[in-house]
Order: sequence, then structure tokens, then C-alpha cells
Amino acid sequence: MDDQRISETLAAIDAAADVDAVEAIRIAALGKQGWISLALKSLGAMASEERTKAAPAIQAAREKIANALAEKKAALDDAALEASLASETLDLTLPASEVPKGSVHPVSQVMDELAEIFADMGFAVATGPEIEDDWHNFTALNMPESHPARAMHDTFYFPQQEGVDHRMLLRTHTSPVQVRTMVSQGAPLRIIAPGRVYRSDSDATHTPMFHQVEGLVIDRGIHLGHLKWTLETFLKAFFEREDIVLRLRPSYFPFTEPSVEADVGFALENGRRVLGGSGDEPGHGWMELLGSGMVNRRVIEMSGLDPDEWQGFAFGVGVDRLAMLKYGMDDLRAFFDGDVRWLRHYGFSPFDQPTLSAGVGARA
Ligand code: DAH
Repeated sequence: MDDQRISETLAAIDAAADVDAVEAIRIAALGKQGWISLALKSLGAMASEERTKAAPAIQAAREKIANALAEKKAALDDAALEASLASETLDLTLPASEVPKGSVHPVSQVMDELAEIFADMGFAVATGPEIEDDWHNFTALNMPESHPARAMHDTFYFPQQEGVDHRMLLRTHTSPVQVRTMVSQGAPLRIIAPGRVYRSDSDATHTPMFHQVEGLVIDRGIHLGHLKWTLETFLKAFFEREDIVLRLRPSYFPFTEPSVEADVGFALENGRRVLGGSGDEPGHGWMELLGSGMVNRRVIEMSGLDPDEWQGFAFGVGVDRLAMLKYGMDDLRAFFDGDVRWLRHYGFSPFDQPTLSAGVGARA
């Protein structure tokens, strides 16, 4: 073995200024055609006695050089990391106002507020698919094929697929989540199900896609009093007013029996409806807000539970409408235009998460 060449190589490694130089030395010594590699290869042509004598020196040289290369490379890598850490600093104290800010859409804000209010009453958030089948959207909710309520929903249907029993559609309400949750979780349960729903309808107060939140409580011995208390507690927390007055009016929904519609009292102030007080006072009125009722025993049955053991109540309310009432927007279509000026005006700070302790109402 050429001792001088070995020490020259070690010196060159030591002197190498960067990883490229280290790599060049590695190739010259240990690469396929490197002098150490060729020396190793030459062992194969030797007589075995000669090989036994020569091999240890070559192996030792290879190991020494390989170690020196690895050490030098690690030292250079460390130095490079130190240098980049020192030069690439990030000042976390810079004001965020220099950066374009996003804002939380009123619909998202209201959904967060609802989740917060209902979580405090022990409700979990449940979800279901927006592409639904007609069994979950209608049949299991006590709207069989020929039921007139089906026609009232202006449903977007998908083309009928061969070999598929259930017709697919865009869900027309969040009520199918009631069925899905009873089927998958059984009873007792307490859920809200916020989400998008779709109907073929469009004007200042209707868009083909809008948002609802469904509520469902299933337990033993549930009655209309539980429903009224829950709605009242929710509306007071949501509108942040103690004087919200609720009126339950008999109504009809196929999936509830009895069914009620809940109206809230409002007063007219400067031509605008302000919630609060009884709608029967002079200068006041009632506004229809949400649909609800005791879950129809047929729905409980079709969802796989025994209606003699389990009862419950349900409600459904438009989230967009709640947002309009609370935050004073009057054109629903603007909600979904994606106009950044509207979002800047009506949007909420992402740093302002609704919490019950701090108040669920956001300061826009
Ligand atoms: N699903 C109804 C709709 O979209 C709203 C509704 C009414 C939901 C009464 C309910 C309910 O859960 O009990 O018009």
C-alpha cells in the first residue's frame, strides 16, 4: 500500500473546504475507478498467499479514508446548518397586519356558535353525506314514494343507475342524519347535525344550496317540555338575550308527531325586526323560525329502535337565516358570491373563537 498516497489523501480530506471537495476525494479513492477500489480489485488476481499479506493493509486504508470522509462531511454539514440558522431568522414579533388576513364566513361562525351552545347541553356533532339516497332522505323519515311532501322539496336527483335500488339525490334537509345516527349509534343520544342541503329554488331568500342544523334527542321519557326548554335555552344563548319569547304552533311534518313550528317574538325598531319580547305586545310580531316535534314512532322504528322504549324530539332550522337575523344581512345570495368585500365586511376574526364564557356572539 502506498503510505504516502494515504497520508496525502487524509490531508486533502482535512483541508477540504466544502462537501463538493469531499465528494471529489471520495470518488478518486473509493469510487468505482478509485485507487483504493482498484487496489481491492487487484486482490482477486493475486495468489492466495500474496493476497493474505496485501489485503489487511488495503482494507485498513479503505476504512481510514472512509471514516475520515464521513467525519469531514458531518462537520461540514453541521457548519452549514449553523450558518443557515444564524442567517435565516424569522421575527415572530412582526405585526400580522402586514399580511393579508382571511376572515371567518358568517355561516361558519354561526355553526361554531351552535356547536358551542349545544356542546354545553351535552350534544355531540354528527354528520352525514350530502349525496344521499332516497331511503334516508325520505322513506325512513316517513315519506314513502307517493308521499306529497316529497314533491314539496324540489329535489335534485341523480340519474337512476341500473342495479341500484335507491335513487341518489342531493339531500334536501339535514333530517336524514337523524336516521343515520340512530342506526349507527343506537340510543340514547343527543346530537346536532349542521351542514349543506340542496333544493332547486333561487331568489333573494332562497339559494339552491343552503345550510341547516338538525337537532335530535332520543332517550326514555322525553316529552314536548324537554323540546321547549331546549329550544328556549338555545335561542337565548344564541341571540344573547334573556327576553326571547317562544311560541309553539301546531304544524305538520311527516317525521314528527306531534309537529310544532316555533315562532319568536320581535319588535320593529326603525323598520328592522329586533328579536325579543312577546309577539303579542303592541308593535310586536311573531316570526317563524324553525320546525320541530316529537320524533314519529315510525321513524324510530325504521331506524332500528323500539319506539315503546325510546322517544325523542327533533328540530331543524336554517343556519343562513339564523346568521341573517343575528348579524343583520338581508340578501342570502350574497352569502355565496365569494365577494371578498362582503367577506371583509361581514366576516369574523379567526382569532375570535366563540366560547360560552367569553360570549358566543362575535365582535365583527
Ligand atoms: N327537515 C325540515 C325541513 O327541511 C325541517 C324540520 C322540521 C326538521 C321538523 C326537524 C323537524 O327535525 O322536527 O323543512
